[in-house]
Amino acid sequence: MNEGQIEQVELLTDEESMAATIAMRSKLDSSGLKNVNRQTMIGIAGRLLEMIKEGRPTMASGFMEVDTSIYSDPALYEAEKRAIFDRFPFVAGLSRDVEKPGDYLNTSDFGTPIIVTRNKEGVIKAYVNSCRHRGAALVYDASGNTGAGFTCPYHGWSYNLDGKLLGITCNSSFGAVDKSDHGLIEVQAEERHGLIFVGSKPGVTFDLDEFLGAELNQELPHWGFDKVQASKAAPIPLDGNWKLSLEAFLETYHFDYAHRDNLAHFYYGNVADLTMMGRHIRLSLPHLTIDELPTTQVDDWVPENHITLAYILFPGTILINSPQVLEFFQIVPVSPGKSIVRHACYARMDLSVPGNAEMFEMTWQSAHSIVQRQDLPYGVTTAHAAIKDGAMPKFLFGANELALQHMHGMIREALADTVS
Ligand code: FES
Ligand SMILES: [Fe+2]
Repeated sequence: MNEGQIEQVELLTDEESMAATIAMRSKLDSSGLKNVNRQTMIGIAGRLLEMIKEGRPTMASGFMEVDTSIYSDPALYEAEKRAIFDRFPFVAGLSRDVEKPGDYLNTSDFGTPIIVTRNKEGVIKAYVNSCRHRGAALVYDASGNTGAGFTCPYHGWSYNLDGKLLGITCNSSFGAVDKSDHGLIEVQAEERHGLIFVGSKPGVTFDLDEFLGAELNQELPHWGFDKVQASKAAPIPLDGNWKLSLEAFLETYHFDYAHRDNLAHFYYGNVADLTMMGRHIRLSLPHLTIDELPTTQVDDWVPENHITLAYILFPGTILINSPQVLEFFQIVPVSPGKSIVRHACYARMDLSVPGNAEMFEMTWQSAHSIVQRQDLPYGVTTAHAAIKDGAMPKFLFGANELALQHMHGMIREALADTVS
């Protein structure tokens, strides 16, 4: 994610968002998703066609009630940071965001200031963004290229891309200090399936095989996250707890109401195929055009032209796939009552084809506008305003809001694991 590229996103009206979607659909071309697992997609399409008849998504066994103090309790917030954000990796960006040696991302989203970079051998590395002399940050921009290494702007100490301390200015003043013992402090980072996973601070370790699980590990490569092109990105700061921000992405029950003048013209609301993949979720949404599939032989189906498929990686990375773009959302906790939704859009289409760059721009703006104008005010800021002082004691998650129930279950499980 390179948030430096866009500071202000012009918000589109519903009519403009509709026009963007219609233009995009007219150029629908699944060639950007060559490797999608056909059997999986046919299976999802079949289940969605059945669910459309019943007008429902994959269901939970019943409704769930939650006490709204879980969104405002400062002690619980601190416990969540320890049990979740200091235990599981976050996705700092995509491989293309740190494409060449010396490219870097600079993030403090999860507390510790971290530089994510790529070394000369092409391996992703992450360090605390702090010089070993007296702690000054080494990089200040959100992203960039640092060349062959880092030079501290304060007193000029230098490091290579492997974090090794190369030079101490006025060396004689530091006598016996051992350079080999004063390299940058490393944070665990690993690149997989085109995504860059990073621990929130030194000492946070993770095992991606265990974290993703076998099924998701096999499925993610099909989506070509390592092949996406240009990106647009912007953060959305919110007065609302991080779990409310996450919930805003977990159901389509709201489509016919909140998005009645845009998305509801293209999607079946309250219909979705959900597969729980350990802590994570695969959420597949049918377009209205999925009705065309049964009029042809299954062998001729191109399900990905009629289904938008999202992965929600625990706790807060959302990857929404269509043939043309990847929409990326990252939920960032800031305090009990504040969070950030980082939104980035990556192109899958060939932007050198005339018209595609404009279409990409419109698609990005449209998604950003819908989320900012509709999802987040309803789901996050107005909801949080009512719960923060206890005026609204309970929330309900319907049986048709299975993904919310699952995520809250996973959060509770992580908290219980840490306590025990
Ligand atoms: S703090 Fe970096 S050289 Fe002094
Ligand atoms: Fe929405």
